[in-house]
Amino acid sequence: MKLCVRNARYLGAAVDLFVLDGQVQNMVPAGHHQPEPDAEIFDARGLVLFPSFIDAHVHLREPGFEYKEDVASGLQAAAHGGFGAVMCMANTRPVNDNAAVTSFILQQARKAFPQGGPRVYPIGAATVGLKGEEMAPLEELAAAGCAAFSNDGRSMENSELLRRVMEYAADLDRIVIDHCEDASLARDAHMNDGVTSGRLGVKGQPDVGEAMHIARDILLAEYLNLPVHIAHVSCKRGVDLIAWGKARGVRVSAETCPHYLLLDDTALEGYSANAKVNPPLRTPEDVAALRQAVRDGTIDIIVTDHAPHAAHEKECPLDEAPNGFTGLDLSVTLMWRLVREGVLEEADLERLCCRRPAEIFKLPVNMFAPGDPADFFLFDPDARWTVSPETLYSKSANTPWLGQEMTGRVAAHWIGGRRIA
Ligand code: DOR
Repeated sequence: MKLCVRNARYLGAAVDLFVLDGQVQNMVPAGHHQPEPDAEIFDARGLVLFPSFIDAHVHLREPGFEYKEDVASGLQAAAHGGFGAVMCMANTRPVNDNAAVTSFILQQARKAFPQGGPRVYPIGAATVGLKGEEMAPLEELAAAGCAAFSNDGRSMENSELLRRVMEYAADLDRIVIDHCEDASLARDAHMNDGVTSGRLGVKGQPDVGEAMHIARDILLAEYLNLPVHIAHVSCKRGVDLIAWGKARGVRVSAETCPHYLLLDDTALEGYSANAKVNPPLRTPEDVAALRQAVRDGTIDIIVTDHAPHAAHEKECPLDEAPNGFTGLDLSVTLMWRLVREGVLEEADLERLCCRRPAEIFKLPVNMFAPGDPADFFLFDPDARWTVSPETLYSKSANTPWLGQEMTGRVAAHWIGGRRIA
């Protein structure tokens, strides 16, 4: 199968991309080579070319919460959102703490895209039932296909257990992703602790709880000389600690999400449950520090933390609503805002959403070199659309951007040279 994507814009230059049998054949300045007569031609004038992004933190909700999302709908959202690979968290029901659940998720992914769609890498639970009491069978999980381990959704309060998980994971050539939160400081909180929570009369959780666990993890990683990956960093204190750890040579990597780069806790002014997420939206100073950190590499990657919830669960008082935003459909559009505002460049997006996650989690990646998997998407920076349940491929529409008009959307996406969106 031959494909030629003509006149795409790649890192500011006009290029033609040649694909042969699912792999990149070559990428050349536009107009340099004539495509072969039997090649399919796609005219990409006006569109921006990216290698498919990798989302290292999503919740696909299956098994157990299929009314929020299932593997098939989550992968449709990924395909249409420009994600060629997703790593899915273990807080399903039953929890992904055994090989049967891991295999089931992978089987559902194959069923959703029998000819190949977004690649799915399950993340195994670090502890049985995510309870934080005893280690999950990490070897069994790795053998079944888990790419990393995490207790995401809950903090690891037991440092000794975290240490053991990090050691066993390292033996299996896997990395631990830690959800950093101090459970006692976050108890019964629904937003960030600060001026806005005081004004609203809502119990908040202070950023120091997140920062304390980040500090602990960095010290443990240094002591053990093992890697650790910090999930969804939301605050400046966390950024400063990660910079400190990296300067000391600690093997710490970290992620943040588009919402922490674009919104602060004033988004909760109307008590809107669609602005409730954990860790919570913080302050404008935190947003500024995170923007700097993704630019300079202190924060290694951007993930969505795609956390779908049904409308009836979010249409309720703030203190009863679950945490989380749907993200796979929207992420590239939101990150493009940062490009338009001059916070990031196209090359930064490629680094943050493709190259670094592939390095950290040792995943296959398209660098547009001959022989690379032909996983890529085209982004239309001028497309106008409105966020609604009808325009999102996810089953859920719990996002603070619901109802808003957006500029820019993924126009087409190929995995292994086959068009999936
Ligand atoms: O907002 C969140 N939602 N944060 C988490 O850590 C878990 C996630 C979920 O599973 O809904």
